[in-house]
Amino acid sequence: MATPGNFSDDRDRVRDASDIVRIIGEHLHLKPKGREYVGLCPFHDDHKPSMNVVPQKQIFHCFSCGAGGDVFTFVQRFHKMEFREALEYLAERAGIALTRRGRREDADGEPAQSPRAAMIRAASTAQSFFQSVLKREDLGQRARDLIARRSMTPEIVESFGVGASPDRWDGLLMTLQARNFDVEPFVAAGLLKRRESGSGMYDAFRNRLMFPIHDQIGRVIAFGARRIDEADDPKYLNSPESSIFDKSSTLYGLHVASRAIQRERLAIVTEGYMDAIACHQGGFANAVATLGTAMTRKHAAILKRMCDRVVLLFDSDDAGLRAADRAVEILMSEMLEVRVATLGPYTDAKDPDELLKRQGGDAVFRRVLDSATDLLEFRFARLRQRLAGAGVAALDRAVRDELARLAELGMNRLDPIRRQLIVKQLASVTGLDARVISQSIPAGRPARVQGAEDPQTPESDPTPVQVGKARLGPQESIIGCVLSDPSLWTRLSREDRDTLASAAQPWDGVRDVATAMIEADAIGDEPGLASVLAHARDERARAVAVALQQRIERECGADTARVRSHFDACLASVRRDRAMREAHANTDPVARLAAMRGVRSQHGDDPRVFPMGGA
Ligand code: GTP
Ligand code: MN
Repeated sequence: MATPGNFSDDRDRVRDASDIVRIIGEHLHLKPKGREYVGLCPFHDDHKPSMNVVPQKQIFHCFSCGAGGDVFTFVQRFHKMEFREALEYLAERAGIALTRRGRREDADGEPAQSPRAAMIRAASTAQSFFQSVLKREDLGQRARDLIARRSMTPEIVESFGVGASPDRWDGLLMTLQARNFDVEPFVAAGLLKRRESGSGMYDAFRNRLMFPIHDQIGRVIAFGARRIDEADDPKYLNSPESSIFDKSSTLYGLHVASRAIQRERLAIVTEGYMDAIACHQGGFANAVATLGTAMTRKHAAILKRMCDRVVLLFDSDDAGLRAADRAVEILMSEMLEVRVATLGPYTDAKDPDELLKRQGGDAVFRRVLDSATDLLEFRFARLRQRLAGAGVAALDRAVRDELARLAELGMNRLDPIRRQLIVKQLASVTGLDARVISQSIPAGRPARVQGAEDPQTPESDPTPVQVGKARLGPQESIIGCVLSDPSLWTRLSREDRDTLASAAQPWDGVRDVATAMIEADAIGDEPGLASVLAHARDERARAVAVALQQRIERECGADTARVRSHFDACLASVRRDRAMREAHANTDPVARLAAMRGVRSQHGDDPRVFPMGGA
């Protein structure tokens, strides 16, 4: 076992204390399936759940794209974190104090803090500062008055982390300087600004109610700041976008709402911070808000992993109509049912915040939600208006335009039933024959609509690991067997181990897995899946390890005896191949033949090893 206090000890403790199902389950809806869980893979454009999470092994594995690994792999990849960042994040969640905290470098020679990590730390420091300002007798008075005027409860203020920035140019700055903080990350995160002339800095947010904006795992990455003094402009001031804050892939309140969204299989998307908060206060805990922009495909990609339906809530019909057009693209690119609801017909309240604070407002709000119309209906209603009284030529052009637009948005990639529904709706709007419409749809772009990639899918994704498809060779099988049953490791001679780590393998990464096993063994760890995931040098090796282990487990039905006999057969084959290679290396033809004969008599004829169950 690793000695206490070192790197792999921290890693093990944090991994053991983290529940992978729970952590992955916060980002995608996981359904139990036997002893495992399945969900939509966030690492490729997944339409059928192909991501498996295996609690017994604390691993995940995607059958479709080959992504796989342990809880660190998932967090690193999903949130684009360095290992250290993932370790610190998971440690904090699990309430574990890391032994090596504060060191500049960790075992991989990775800097202890990346610029992004420093910015996130800065945002969190600022968050504590703003919260303490709100509580200060003097400094927080006007902010507290505003909170009272808006009837926000103390619980809501607390759970959304609302704070206040003081009414001066150097409130945050002085606090940081007094405590000798490096101010650079604060500048990078948009919390401090440099003076245009001369030197020095000033606070970016002054005299405002501060709404921290969190990422999906609850780290503060930005702020939305509402004026306290109605004479100040603008009404809202937001943190600039940066390497830690991308508006188009952030939804306000998601970290608080994700559980409810998954439970209800429905997300309510409002237009403003205050509206999302009011929804939560009014008992609608599945509400989030976009950050002053329309809903994007990235937002949709995030939500689709958690729920099936989204209601876009607009203050007025006008806003709804304007947004509906853009939202159609979302509908086409993600398998999400998108509905549109507007307050207009049901209340004179100007937004959900105002409505929910009225007596009986929640009942009206419920009715608004229930009345939400399918996005396409919404769009077609508009088309119908445009076509009313139009001549034949205008009608023809409008229909062609609409079809071209729908095709461009990816209509041809929709499942046939959905496609058929759209065609039918179009037919009823235009009075044309459905068959004619169907035939007039131009071929759309074959791939996903441009820019539709998930935020979590970097372009430089490793090519998929297709271990699941090809037949495993004896070397891969041996590795898979050991990953499954690490006690088998001791049956391998040193030579066997070297063979596994050095021979050319059909799949990249297999050799790295073997190397990680040797390394784990060298420090006294059993080279099973868990420690290999800890020792593997990169993501690809981790994915291969998971794939091999899963493959063996599937083929042998997690039956120890079968794993062992398969292991023995494969090992015999590998040893024979090795002996044969050595015999071949003999330069003297007579000696070579004799050596080969020797191999045959010792190892028998070529025992072609087929994995059990294989044809
Ligand atoms: P309250 O007046 O506090 O109720 O605000 P609201 O949430 O009702 O805001 P409103 O409907 O005016 O705007 C909705 C959203 O648009 C806000 O939550 C902000 O995200 C954004 N927004 C509104 N005004 C501004 C502005 O002046 N600047 C920026 N950057 N965003 C704004
Ligand atoms: Mn409002």
